Parts: sequence; C-alpha cells; structure tokens
Amino acid sequence: MSQTRAQPSHDPLKVPKLLLSSATDKPKDAVSLFFRAAFLTCLVGSILILLFSAFSPAAHRGTAHWLRLPEPPGTDPGEDHPDYAGDDSSEPTNISHIVFSIGGSVRSWPGRSRYSTLWWQPNRTRGYAWLDEDPKSHIGDNRWQVAASNSIPYRVSEDTTRFKYSSSKSAVRIARIFLETFRLNLPRVRWFVMGDDDSVFFVDNLVTVLSRYDHREMWYIGGNSESVEQDVMHSYGMAFGGGGFALSYPLAARLSKIFDGCLDRYYKFYGSDQRVWACASEIGVPLTRELGFHQIDIRGNPYGLLAAHPLAPLVSLHHIDSVDSVIPHRTKFDSLETLMSSYRVDPPRILQQSFCYNRIRKWSIAISWGYTVRIYPSLVAAHLLETPIRTFKTWRTRKDGPFTFNTRSMEPDPCSAPAVYFLDEAQEVGQAGSLTSYNRSDDGSGKECKSAEFDRVMAIRRIVVSSMRMDPEYWKMAPRRQCCEIMDRGSIKNGILRLRIKKCRPFETITI
Ligand SMILES: *[C@@H]1O[C@H](CO)[C@@H](O)[C@H](O)[C@H]1NC(C)=O
Ligand SMILES: *[C@@H]1O[C@H](CO)[C@@H](O)[C@H](O)[C@H]1NC(C)=O
Ligand SMILES: *[C@@H]1O[C@H](CO)[C@@H](O)[C@H](O)[C@H]1NC(C)=O
Repeated sequence: MSQTRAQPSHDPLKVPKLLLSSATDKPKDAVSLFFRAAFLTCLVGSILILLFSAFSPAAHRGTAHWLRLPEPPGTDPGEDHPDYAGDDSSEPTNISHIVFSIGGSVRSWPGRSRYSTLWWQPNRTRGYAWLDEDPKSHIGDNRWQVAASNSIPYRVSEDTTRFKYSSSKSAVRIARIFLETFRLNLPRVRWFVMGDDDSVFFVDNLVTVLSRYDHREMWYIGGNSESVEQDVMHSYGMAFGGGGFALSYPLAARLSKIFDGCLDRYYKFYGSDQRVWACASEIGVPLTRELGFHQIDIRGNPYGLLAAHPLAPLVSLHHIDSVDSVIPHRTKFDSLETLMSSYRVDPPRILQQSFCYNRIRKWSIAISWGYTVRIYPSLVAAHLLETPIRTFKTWRTRKDGPFTFNTRSMEPDPCSAPAVYFLDEAQEVGQAGSLTSYNRSDDGSGKECKSAEFDRVMAIRRIVVSSMRMDPEYWKMAPRRQCCEIMDRGSIKNGILRLRIKKCRPFETITI
C-alpha cells in the first residue's frame, strides 16, 4: 500500500535522489530532466552563495546587507538592559510586591464588590478598582456605603473617548487600567495583577505562583478559557481577564510605551484582555500558562471542575454569578465563604486531591481538600478519579464540550455514582495541623440505589479529614499528588469516617 504513494520527505538531502530516480524511471522525459537538473544547480548555487556571504568577512563589514548573522549579545543596550526602574532585589516575592488593578463600573461595583471582600485584605493587599464614573454622584445610594467600607479602594479611570472601538467602549478603558496603575509609580511593585470585579483571588497562592518567576524579566502569566470555542474565537495565547493575569514590572513598563497607539491598532477586538495580549505579542512576550487561574467559562454546575483540580495551587475563580453555587443548598456567596474558610486554614492545599481505597469493601475515596469528598462503591483507577466529571456545559453554546481538558460523563446508574460530601467546617489543629469535616449531600435527583453495598456507604454521614498544613515550598518541587489513609480500619462510628492525608511513601502507588 505505502509503496504506491510517494513518501513526503522533509530531508533536503533526499531531494536529489528522489528527483533523479524518478527521472531515470522515465528516460523519455528529457525536457523534464533538464529543468530538474537546472533547478538543482540553482539550488546548490544559492546555498553556496548564502553560506559564503554569511561567513565571509565582507558580511560583517556590512557589504552584504541581505544576509546578516545575529548581532553578538550585549551590543544593543536597549535589548539587554530594559529601562528597569522596578524593584531589582532578588529577595523572595511577597504580597507587598503585588498591585491589583480590578476592572469595574459604577453600575456593577455595588453588587460585585461583595466578592472582593472575600479576598481583599486591607493593609495587606494593594491596588484599586477602576470605575468609569465618580460614584460620589451615587452617594445617596445606600449600596455604595456598603461597597466602599471594606473592599478595594476605587479610582476613576481617565477619559478614553479619544480611542477607537468597535464593540465595547469599556474594553478600551479596562485594558488601560494596568497602564494607569503603572503611572501611579507605587513603590516596590514587581507584579501588576489584573482582574474583573467578579474575580476571586486566592492571594497567598498567587504569591506562591509569582514568586517562582524572576520579576526582573518580562512575564505575562495567566490562563485560558475552559471552553475550546472561546479559545478558538479569541486566542489560546491570551490570558482571559476574568481569571486574572499578571504582568511583571518590566513588561508593564515596555507595554506602557506602546499601549495607547496599540489600542487603536486593535480597536476591532472584543475584550480588554485581548488588547493586552495583542500588544504583548508585538513585544514578543507569550503567555505563560498557570493552571490555577480559572476564567470559569462554563455553564451549570462547576462541581466536576473544582472537585478534580489539577495539581497546581488554586489562584483564582471567576464568573461566580454565572454558574451554580459551588456548594448546593447554600447561596453563591455563602458557599464561597465556606471555601474561603478552609483556604485560610491551609492556603496551598485548597482543592488538592488525594485518593485512597478501602480494599475490603472495594470503595474508592477521592478528597478534594477543603471542598468535597466522593466515595465510589467500586474501585476506580486514579486517572479516572482525577478527570473532571462533566457537571457543566460550554460557555457560549452550552454544549458538552470540547473543553481544554478531558472530562467524563456523569454516572447514570445511581448504584455506581459516588456519595458526595461537602465541606462543613475547617479548623487549625496545633501549630501545623488541620481538621476538615464534610457532610453528605443529598443530590436531590430522587434516584436511589437499592443495594446492600450502597447502604453501607450511605451509613457515612460525615467525613473528617486530618492533615498537616502544606508548606508553600511544596509548589516549587516536582508535582506529586499526596496520599491518603483510612483511619480506624475503616470503621464508622456515629456515622463518621476518618481519613488522613499524608505524604506518599517513596514507592507508594494508587493501584487498584
Ligand atoms: C516583603 O519583602 C520585602 C523585601 O523585598 C520586605 O522588606 C518586606 O518586609 C516583606 N513584606 C512582607 C509582608 O512579608
Ligand atoms: C490599616 O492601617 C491603618 C493605618 O495604619 C489603620 O488605621 C487601620 O486600622 C488598618 N486597618 C486594618 C483593617 O488593619
Ligand atoms: C454536619 O453534620 C454534623 C454531624 O452530623 C452536624 O452536627 C452539622 O450540623 C451538619 N452541618 C450542616 C451544615 O448541616
């Protein structure tokens, strides 16, 4: 079969042989042979001329401008020593080195600033919410008093009416908030972090992630959309703004020089984040993806996604208003507050997975720390447990996919579906430990499995997980999921099952 088709060759050395052999197959075609030979001669000649001019001294004297070797490093001071006026200390990055620029509007801020109270820490976090108008004109509005009291201080954006736009005027204004923040000249800034007014940041983990990068270089760090349709429409190379993204000081400085002109070049783009991406790409700086930034471009229930978080620190969540509550039977805000309560106990560990098996009962247990525990009444392989269950749809077309990660469908048979537990409380234990408790949730489907095995699972009403608090340095090492262990030989007292998360032993595997 394969002999009937010519094998494409990417090896230029094979070209002459191929041409010659095909020519000898058809000796009559002398004209063709002549042209091929002439072509080859030209090709070899051009290569020789190129090589000669590249290595001859004349090229370096500038007589052969059409082919120059790259300049040796260090000859262009503008390239190697960017006008760096930032913090050039190499001490570890901490929260004081980050400044947030949050895009908001007078209309949305009173409702959404509530989300910022979940993560904003006055006197610890620095930054501003940038609004389109001075809210003083709304001062009679009671909601403004609440919004202003314990959330991000606000500033009013510069007038941007001079810029072109095609779909959204506010996209231009919000694209410029990093620039306006940069021009405030705040001291010791290493990172400019952008977000929307409905972005929730996990600040300690953001610091952990950013501290892995040298802030004296040009970095553009963030995440994509979960829905492939969104990445195709906008760009896989773009950091989606709601999930938040970080620009290092040198990149922000370089961008600030070209940004206003750049905005007019990309006036046809839809969002502010796409404008920043397009301008960064003119500088030549690509997106560095970090898996903890979450745009949450999904519809429906985000459970499957959050219960199978990749092995990376959770940095942000977005679109909380657009998806179901992350904990059923609680409001969106309350369930996030609950998630934050375990985050505060052990920030690096939030949503991290651990799996264990009860071999006697043939159960699989998947912990997503600080959020949920699932018990499957069967042995399920680790690679399946870490694949998100599709409890959600795509953002734009509300379809079953594709997403930028693999998913698996929900278990239709109630006897194979897991019993699900949600965080009830989290507490510190001693200097270095934690206890988190999870209560069983009625999934409300009304479907119940009538099997003795499932009844045994159902006898567990609450799960208590103990663990040591995770060292943030954990995220600087090669990633490895931690292990867990069933305590008291799996005995259930008063409806409570006890588990312990621990470092895996060197040779330990999660094997059915
Ligand atoms: C952050 O690091 C700087 C050194 O770069 C140090 O002076 C400062 O005290 C640190 N701040 C916090 C909150 O740890
Ligand atoms: C923040 O600092 C100011 C002045 O240093 C102080 O008056 C205020 O009480 C502090 N706020 C909090 C929440 O610690
Ligand atoms: C969770 O379960 C425990 C013990 O079963 C109970 O005391 C507690 O009230 C439950 N929490 C919620 C929010 O129902």
